[in-house]
Amino acid sequence: MRALRGLTSDPCPTLDALVAEHGPTFIVRGGPMTMAIVGDPAHLAPLLATTTDAFRWGHVFNVLGFIVGPGSMIVSDGDDHKRRRGATQPAFARRRLDAWIPIIVSETDRLVDETLKRGADAFDLYPVGRTFVRRVVVRVLFGDGLGDRADELGAVLEPAMTYGVQPALRQLPHPLPFTRRARAREALRGADSIIYEEIDRRRRASRSDDDASDVLDAMLAAEGGALSTSEIRDQTITLIAAGYDTTSSGLAWTLLRAAGTPDVWKALRAEADRVLGHTPTAQLDGETVRGLSYADAVVRESLRLHPPGVFSPRQAQRDLMLGDFAIKKGTMILWSPYVAGRLADLWDDPLEFRPARFAEPDTRQQAAINGAWMPYGRGPRACIGFALAQMELTLALARLAQRVDIALVRAEVPKPIGMIVNRPDCGVVVRVGARQS
Ligand code: HEM
Repeated sequence: MRALRGLTSDPCPTLDALVAEHGPTFIVRGGPMTMAIVGDPAHLAPLLATTTDAFRWGHVFNVLGFIVGPGSMIVSDGDDHKRRRGATQPAFARRRLDAWIPIIVSETDRLVDETLKRGADAFDLYPVGRTFVRRVVVRVLFGDGLGDRADELGAVLEPAMTYGVQPALRQLPHPLPFTRRARAREALRGADSIIYEEIDRRRRASRSDDDASDVLDAMLAAEGGALSTSEIRDQTITLIAAGYDTTSSGLAWTLLRAAGTPDVWKALRAEADRVLGHTPTAQLDGETVRGLSYADAVVRESLRLHPPGVFSPRQAQRDLMLGDFAIKKGTMILWSPYVAGRLADLWDDPLEFRPARFAEPDTRQQAAINGAWMPYGRGPRACIGFALAQMELTLALARLAQRVDIALVRAEVPKPIGMIVNRPDCGVVVRVGARQS
């Protein structure tokens, strides 16, 4: 029972201790509950490749349903999942991703300008990063059509998103008003009215797929009207919710690690000067992102050590074997990119932050990357926003290194907190100034 409590309240140190004792895959029992923790790549490969009959995702443990709605891909399985995901996937096609590059860079510039106005005092960059992520996702989803309502949508959603990062036990259905759940429900009503109004406006404007550059248009244009209006609303909230805390956490850890290693910041700056240079933001394109290979490696190395999702759930639908482990029907399976990313027999000096292992991998590190780097998951349930998130973090990091000097106020790496999404316990406290050299 202690292990279960530790996994829900303080997952990273609990996992470290359990993995040291039992290895990367093990079973935990507490009262009537059995959980399988899976971190061995040999077990992860078949687990993540199989979705349909052996495992469920949209199961009773999935506390997200309340926020994202019953028509969301994230709480669906089988054919419903395939249809909902399939109708949303084209929204993330390469040509749309490329069109979002100037949005991301201009939002980073906005963050830098707002930050420089604060002067020399230390402040927490984590909430500033959340605002950046929220602004990007709203523009990517809705284009600039929402205008001033973009910030309003982000602001009304904040209580619902904050609810999403509460420990799982506190999210169980609750009859009392004035709780976080009630506040989240209220917030969602506000967001729904903005989203439904926008869907309605676009349906009346009857645009074609050729016009579609934002995600909402792409979902509306999905072949044969594959998604109903309420399903489009549910995917919209899902994309905001699934991308919000994860990307904010990824940005926080990446900045902590990069700013805490002056040589890395210097190398990021040299690359950004070469690739971004003085090119007008509107002209930045896919070539730019491909040129930022060192920034991409820094992000990947940060996500290896600090995957925002420490683990992700499945439920076994029948008795099955995972390697030598017998998993009973009904068992909750938590697969963990955190465990896989730190295995000492795969990664050289696994606790060291070393972007070179991604920038110039030798054969051993390449094998580890292929088999055990999975902060975005793998297979048919892998993160649908992977390319967007990776590009967003890479561009933001490169632009920040190009424009600002940054110093961490505390030298030691903060503790990770949060069960569903993991973030640094005391934020990212920094001093930021305009670049001096
Ligand atoms: C650093 C940022 C991110 C990380 C680390 C991350 C991580 C993940 C992981 C691990 C999964 C798969 C869980 C599983 O298989 O059990 C997932 C699924 C998902 N992610 Fe992300 N994510 C990030 C950003 C985003 C963004 C920006 C979006 C949307 C714009 C997004 C949307 C989704 C959705 C909708 C799913 C569910 C897919 C499905 O059920 O088929 N994520 N993410």
